[in-house]
Parts: sequence; C-alpha cells; structure tokens
Amino acid sequence: MRSLEVKVCVCTHCVMNGAMDIVESIEGLQKLKNQLRFNTAVKIIANECICDKTEHGECSPIVSVKGECIANATSETVTAKIISIITKG
Ligand code: FES
Repeated sequence: MRSLEVKVCVCTHCVMNGAMDIVESIEGLQKLKNQLRFNTAVKIIANECICDKTEHGECSPIVSVKGECIANATSETVTAKIISIITKG
C-alpha cells in the first residue's frame, strides 16, 4: 500500500484558525478509505513551522500535502488535494 504524508501545522495561529478541524477531516477521510477503495494510507504529521512562510498569522492554517504547501488551508481544499493525488494513482 502506498502512503501519503500530510503535515498539519499546529502552532497557535494555525490551531486558532482551524488546524484541528482539518486534522479531523483527514481522519474522516482515512476512515472512508476502505469504502472508497483507496490503496493509499494517509499519514498525518502534526508539527509546527512546516513551511517557510514568514507571515505565519496571515497564511495560517498551513498544511503540506506530499511536500506541497497549502496556505490558508481549509478542510475542503486539503481533502480535495488528497483525493486528487490518491485518485491520480
Ligand atoms: S508555524 Fe503555523 S503558520 Fe507558521
């Protein structure tokens, strides 16, 4: 099974702007994985300062999907990105 690494910044700014909601959405996606027949394990890594952005407050929450940084991330943009990578194969 392939694996996809998703890093979610959990600094104060990012948490205040919804980082934990994004983590919950990704976990929900993991639970749906079997029903959707995704052959990819999504690994969530919660860490601070995952990107080189200097305007942390303005860019938060920040999520990195397979090394690609998403600034001002939302559950929708992150799950859409994950699904697009998974379904590309
Ligand atoms: S550490 Fe979270 S936005 Fe920079």
